[in-house]
Amino acid sequence: MNNITVVGSGVMGRGIAYVSAVGGFSVTLVDVNQSALKNAEAELNTIFEKSLSRGKLSNEEAQQAKSNLQFSSDLSSAVSAADLVIEAVPEKESIKQQVFEVLEQYAPADCLFATNTSTMSPTEIASYAKRPDKTIAMHFFNPVHKMPLVEIIRGLETSNETAEAVRKAAERMGKETVVINEFPGFVTSRISALVGNEAFYMLQEGLGTPEEIDKAIKLGLNYPMGPFELVDLVGLDARLNNLNYLHEKLGEKYRPAPLLEQYVKAGRLGRKSGRGVYDYTKDKELVKK
Ligand SMILES: NC(=O)c1ccc[n+]([C@@H]2O[C@H](COP(=O)([O-])OP(=O)(O)OC[C@H]3O[C@@H](n4cnc5c(N)ncnc54)[C@H](O)[C@@H]3O)[C@@H](O)[C@H]2O)c1
Repeated sequence: MNNITVVGSGVMGRGIAYVSAVGGFSVTLVDVNQSALKNAEAELNTIFEKSLSRGKLSNEEAQQAKSNLQFSSDLSSAVSAADLVIEAVPEKESIKQQVFEVLEQYAPADCLFATNTSTMSPTEIASYAKRPDKTIAMHFFNPVHKMPLVEIIRGLETSNETAEAVRKAAERMGKETVVINEFPGFVTSRISALVGNEAFYMLQEGLGTPEEIDKAIKLGLNYPMGPFELVDLVGLDARLNNLNYLHEKLGEKYRPAPLLEQYVKAGRLGRKSGRGVYDYTKDKELVKK
């Protein structure tokens, strides 16, 4: 495997492109939105600089990895020589379906398809194309260049060869893997959505401030981040999408907290919009409010 195309250059796609390029793959990062591609390129340069200054990459390694990266807004040509496509477009069935239909039409017949969905069924996503044996979920975590795990989720018809090939690719990207079978929410998103949603219900009930709830969870339960710090990083809209999906598939206990819905309606999407549960606009250091 040599050529990877990453579709969607948002929070996750740019990170997946980074670890793929550092892993020695030839990578094309695709987005329909030119300004998203420009932001991705700028952020990737910042990550390369930080990796250099922290000694995680040598000058030579950084130059090599940068030369492995290309950017494109034309999906059909970007997948024409791909060995593996990793899809990281928003968690909406209609968008994923449209992307997989294009992939099926333009990618080589032996190209593997992976989705970075947080919750959706890889079997259902595979049905948007015509190669269910070659389709799988590769669930990366945010921030991709720092988080060690890729959760690999097999759909109903995913072949052993596909699972093994993407596991090897993830390892070449420097990641640990778990390979599990499909069920809505997998292992990590189900637990994370429940904990994060419960925290919003607590905030709504006036149990404590976000700082107090985060501190209780971090110091009392030994979580590295509080649920509000985490949702600001993940994106409140992404969390709400996940909860809506899990609510539909698994029932009442995943019903999104009304306060979370209200924050999303207000445009408080987390770090990416400058304000989520906390406010990031006041100075460069995170101002918590
Ligand atoms: N944010 C997280 O922490 C996180 C963690 C794990 C998995 N995920 C999953 O990863 C996927 C992407 O999430 P994200 O947070 O990076 O989203 P995002 O909104 O930051 O980025 C999505 C990008 O896809 C682009 N896009 C939309 N339609 C497209 C198309 N047809 N072709 C090409 N590009 C298109 C958008 O312009 C945008 O730049 C989702 O399925 C999400 O559930 C997210």
